[in-house]
Amino acid sequence: MKQLQKDTDKIIWDQVRPNRVRNGYRKLMMYLMVFVCATYVVYTLTVFNTSNLHCSKHELVFSTRSSLQNASFSPDIVVPKKTELKHIVFGIAASAKLWERRKNYIKLWWKKDAKMRGIVWLDNHVETQPDDDGLPPVKISTDTSQFAYNNKQGHRSAIRISRIISETLRLGMNNVRWFVMGDDDTVFITDNLVRVLNKYDHNQYYYIGSLSESHLQNIFFSYGMAYGGGGFAISYPLAKALQRMQDRCIQRYPGLYGSDDRMQACMAELGVPLTKEVGFHQYDVYGNLFGLLAAHPVTPLVSLHHLDVVEPIFPEVTRVKALQRLMLPMKLDSAGLIQQSICYDSSKGWTVSVSWGFAIQVFRGILSPREVEMPSRTFLNWYRRADYTAYAFNTRPVARNPCQKAFVFYMTRVRLNSTTNMTVSQYARHRVPHPTCKWHMQDPSNLDKVIVYKRPDPQLWDRSPRRNCCRVLESKKKRLVVDVGLCREGEVTEVIR
Ligand SMILES: *[C@@H]1O[C@H](CO)[C@@H](O)[C@H](O)[C@H]1NC(C)=O
Ligand SMILES: *[C@@H]1O[C@H](CO)[C@@H](O)[C@H](O)[C@H]1NC(C)=O
Ligand SMILES: *[C@@H]1O[C@H](CO)[C@@H](O)[C@H](O)[C@H]1NC(C)=O
Repeated sequence: MKQLQKDTDKIIWDQVRPNRVRNGYRKLMMYLMVFVCATYVVYTLTVFNTSNLHCSKHELVFSTRSSLQNASFSPDIVVPKKTELKHIVFGIAASAKLWERRKNYIKLWWKKDAKMRGIVWLDNHVETQPDDDGLPPVKISTDTSQFAYNNKQGHRSAIRISRIISETLRLGMNNVRWFVMGDDDTVFITDNLVRVLNKYDHNQYYYIGSLSESHLQNIFFSYGMAYGGGGFAISYPLAKALQRMQDRCIQRYPGLYGSDDRMQACMAELGVPLTKEVGFHQYDVYGNLFGLLAAHPVTPLVSLHHLDVVEPIFPEVTRVKALQRLMLPMKLDSAGLIQQSICYDSSKGWTVSVSWGFAIQVFRGILSPREVEMPSRTFLNWYRRADYTAYAFNTRPVARNPCQKAFVFYMTRVRLNSTTNMTVSQYARHRVPHPTCKWHMQDPSNLDKVIVYKRPDPQLWDRSPRRNCCRVLESKKKRLVVDVGLCREGEVTEVIR
């Protein structure tokens, strides 16, 4: 091309030389024709080249698009399999001193036959009893005496516990998606744990758990920390990243109190925030959990903690027996466990609140859902005081008016009717003295029991969160029959007069 250009220049140069023009007209015409031809050739070549360029550009665009298509279609073709229990590995923090008592809480939820995986990490050797067969394998944590610990209030076992996830990861188990930490006095509702974890991509970095109920605890520790007793989940790649840096990280925070604040300090270094799931329960409270369990947030119940600290969740039985009772409705309909429904007995003018599988409250008069969905203050704060400003969530007094103290019915039995596929749960009246009430209306103190029908609904949490509806089917002097289930089209919790 360059050569051609040169030639053309020469022709033009020749052309403008006047003496030559005069010398021969024929010669000029020949040059002119060569010029026109050359211009034509140059032009054609240029056009051809450009169109060639266009063509290759086109090809480039096309191939880019097709590889993009491959990239975006392949994840859809290979449908990611849902997370199951077998993808979770538990790391349970325990101590030899409390093992004999605390292991009974683990037995409540650990299902050996479900091929659950996990390790109980202890500080010292323990004797195994014949009935320990159903427990996870036990290991002794590696020595941590080389780590500095200088918190005056705490105990250096915090370092050992903080390293449980890293130590469990180093065991090299395969096909792990999540590591879940818990204490020896944590009870997990594992079906619901799986439901919650399924909302998140285990190939990403996730740190999932919940806060303390205590505002002051959250101030002292962090509002961005997963409390260890309530349990928390760390996705596999995050556990790997943590494992690489945790020992160095721990050395940077010798002044911290516990294991979970050390974990949070390392999460902060990794830049991974807490993903809050309020179904994990630290339960930093004293007294009776009733108010919290009777008005659970509209989210699956994942864990319960501090079960040694609070009263048994069902009255007049041991703590472990009480929890065993809660496992019965859990087996039939884990998604619906302690989920609240609110309705009215319009024939009597009562408000009915169901905490499915746990307890029923019947109130004189009509209380609005916004009132009944608040936990009643049956519990004390972490400093053993009845101070409702201690919590960063709303609570309500046990009764604003003596007449409105709830009549409570605790679940005594539950079964599945295989003909109707409905669970039938029974709740017996908890007989405690009630203040005198001068309201001229039906008295719920005559009621002996409440029966609740509910269809198991394993898909409950695949839909947007919504309280189930309840309807009073039968209201006799001694017996109330209630139906709980999906709200019908247009159904609202409002008084039907
Ligand atoms: C894209 O998908 C096609 C058809 O499945 C396949 O032949 C091709 O190799 C894929 N290309 C890339 C870049 O993966
Ligand atoms: C199951 O429900 C059906 C229909 O209501 C009833 O006839 C039957 O007696 C129930 N079965 C049991 C075991 O309660
Ligand atoms: C009950 O459930 C079983 C199994 O899921 C099903 O085959 C049956 O049709 C159901 N019966 C009713 C009355 O819904």
